[in-house]
Amino acid sequence: MTEMSPVTDAAAEKPRTLAVPDAQTVTAVTHWTDRLFSFRCTRPPSLRFRSGEFVMIGLMGDPDPKTGKQKPLLRAYSIASPAWDDELEFYSIKVQDGPLTSRLQHIQPGDQIILRPKPVGTLVHDALLPGKRLWLFATGTGFAPFASLLREPQTYEDYDEVIITHTCREADELTYGAKLIEEVRNDPLMAELIGEGFVDKIRYYPTTTREESSTNGRITDLMRSGRVFEDLGVPPLSPETDRAMICGNLAFNLELKAMLEDYGLVEGANSDPKHYVVEKAFLD
Ligand code: A2P
Repeated sequence: MTEMSPVTDAAAEKPRTLAVPDAQTVTAVTHWTDRLFSFRCTRPPSLRFRSGEFVMIGLMGDPDPKTGKQKPLLRAYSIASPAWDDELEFYSIKVQDGPLTSRLQHIQPGDQIILRPKPVGTLVHDALLPGKRLWLFATGTGFAPFASLLREPQTYEDYDEVIITHTCREADELTYGAKLIEEVRNDPLMAELIGEGFVDKIRYYPTTTREESSTNGRITDLMRSGRVFEDLGVPPLSPETDRAMICGNLAFNLELKAMLEDYGLVEGANSDPKHYVVEKAFLD
């Protein structure tokens, strides 16, 4: 998730070892750009989640100047790894003066983070009715829950086509997603689990808004002009055939939600599956 909190501390110190419950150990860290990184950590044996859900993670906050006590500093992060993975993966922005990510960006293998083992979320297969084509719409780090769902066999068992769109400002911000999709396409285990043909179901549509790339512009504008449907050779979305999941910045989520309603799609929930779902972590 993008860090949304107001600026309160500029400390970019190393995370310390925690004497708190819910601590997990970092196993790998990859820096993708000066604004983006991903990391993996141990998974509590008791943690069960559905691909697409999020959890609260973080570090201990700075000591209170009066009492010296430290409180956990937690944010909602989509789990980027699939439900079957032994470890957990997260994909994060680095906000240089953000309370959490100014420090989280300095974690190293062996460090500990806090992970509250209570997964929740709306971007799950259970919240959608059966359909033919699944659209996954992401901007920026909103790609994270789809990194989980794209590695989830059910995604390909349930749909004939899986279209993943990812809009970022600059081309290098697409790298995490592009590499992940390449890995999924070449994963012998996935082919074994769901059959070689699953690779043909994945349609990847990356776009950039502030730097030239193969496709320029916001996905919303490219849908309005019809360009994305022409490029992919599919008709515009319809409630009969299409299902969608939305995860990006708040303005994007709201704009695309309104567009999907115009196509006739209705928002679903865990308790009432329908045609599309929107990430709710930002709004809680
Ligand atoms: P733009 O560069 O035109 O603002 P951010 O890094 O600010 O979270 O944005 C990630 C991407 O989402 C950017 O490419 C940005 O485009 C795009 N974006 C922001 N708001 C919207 C929106 N309402 N609809 C579609 N795309 C959006």
